[in-house]
Amino acid sequence: MNAPVDRRRQDRRSGDRRRAHAVRIRPTFARIDARSLGHNLRVVQRHIGERCRVLAVVKADGYGHGAIESARAFVDAGAWGLAVSLVEEGVELRQAGVHAPVLVLGGVHPGSEDVIVHRGLTPVVWAHEHLQLLAAAVRRSGAPRLGVHIKLDTGMSRLGLRLEELGVLIDWLTSERGASLEVEGLMTHLACADEPDDEVSPGQLAQFEQACQTFVAHGIYPRIRHVCNSAGLVRLPRAYYDMVRPGIALYGAASSEPVELPGLRMAMSWHSRVLGIRELPAGSRVSYGHREELRRPSRLGIVPVGYADGYPRRMSGQAEVLVRGHRCRVIGNITMDTSMIDLTDLPGAREGERVTLLGQQGRQQVSIYELARWAGVLPYEIMCGLSKRVPRR
Ligand SMILES: Cc1ncc(COP(=O)(O)O)c(C=O)c1O
Repeated sequence: MNAPVDRRRQDRRSGDRRRAHAVRIRPTFARIDARSLGHNLRVVQRHIGERCRVLAVVKADGYGHGAIESARAFVDAGAWGLAVSLVEEGVELRQAGVHAPVLVLGGVHPGSEDVIVHRGLTPVVWAHEHLQLLAAAVRRSGAPRLGVHIKLDTGMSRLGLRLEELGVLIDWLTSERGASLEVEGLMTHLACADEPDDEVSPGQLAQFEQACQTFVAHGIYPRIRHVCNSAGLVRLPRAYYDMVRPGIALYGAASSEPVELPGLRMAMSWHSRVLGIRELPAGSRVSYGHREELRRPSRLGIVPVGYADGYPRRMSGQAEVLVRGHRCRVIGNITMDTSMIDLTDLPGAREGERVTLLGQQGRQQVSIYELARWAGVLPYEIMCGLSKRVPRR
C-alpha cells in the first residue's frame, strides 16, 4: 500500500473515531430511521406504478439525513438512481462505493468535466459550453461515450435551455462533435406544482412535450424523460413520464402539508436532554435582550441546543418541545448553543430528562411543519439546516 493511501485511511479511521465519540457524549442528536427512508421510497414507487423509475434526490447531504446512508437506503429499496447538485457530492457517493447512476443537477463547471467522466457521473446539461467540455473530457479519457441529461427551462427561469435555443444544441449534438455524448434523458423542473391554484404546470408540460418531439424529429431519442418533484408526483399524474425525481417525500414530508403523499414516515427526529433546571421568581427576564418576562414563578429547563445546531432563533418564544409527552414552550431568545424551556407545569421533570425538538413522544408530536411555521421557513430549510455538529444516529 502506498503512503498517501495509507495516511488517508488512517485519517478516515480517526475521523470515524472522533464522530463515534461525539455521538456518545453529546446529549443533542438527530435520529435517522433508515427503514423509514426505504419505506418512503416504496410508497412513492407504489404511487407512480412499477413502470416508472425513481431518481432519489440526495443533494445537500441527503436533505440533512446523510447522503451516503440515504443513498444506500433508497437504492436498496429500488431507486433506479440518485441525484445530487454538485460534482463533489457525486464523488462522495462513488467513494463510499455507491454504483447506481448519479445525476449531477447543478451543471458542468469548467474543470469538473474530467472528474465527471472518471467517476462515471451523469451530468445534467443545458449549455453548449457544457457539451464542449464534456466531449473533450470523453476524448481524453478514451471512454467510448458519456450519457447526459438535457435540462429545459419551461418556466422556472433558473437552470435550463429555452425552447428557442434548442436548434443550436441539436445541430451540435447531431454533428460529428457530438458523437461522444449520448442524450440519455430530457428533463425540466416545475415552478409551481405545490401552489394551491397551479396554473403554470400545464404550460410547462406542453413546452416539455414539444421539446421532446423536436429531439425525436432530429433523430435523438432520449430514453428517460423526467419532470416531477415531490409535489408534482402528488398533483400531476400525467407528468410521470419515464421517471420521477422526489426529494422531500422520500424523507417523509412535503413542501407543505396539503401536498404530502399519504403513508409517508418522517425519517428524522431530533432530541436533547435537560442540562440543568433554574427556579426563578415571577418578573425575571430571560435570555439575550430580556425579551421575555416570567409571569409566574417558573422552573426553566436549560437545553443544550441553539441556532448553531440549526434550531432557528426566529422561533424564540413560540417553539414547543416535548418532555414526558407534554408540550413545553421555549422561553426567551434561543441562543447559539442553548435554549430555555418552561417546565413549570411538569414539577417532576429533572435534569437529564429527554427533550424532543422534532418527532414524537408518547401521543404528542412536534411536526416539521410546526417548526417551519414557527421559524417562518420551509420544511426543507429545517432539514437541511440541521448543522454538522448535531450527531446523526
Ligand atoms: C431539479 C430538481 N429536481 C427535483 C428536486 C426535488 O424536489 P423536492 O424535494 O421538492 O421533491 C429538486 C429539489 O430542489 C430539484 O432541484
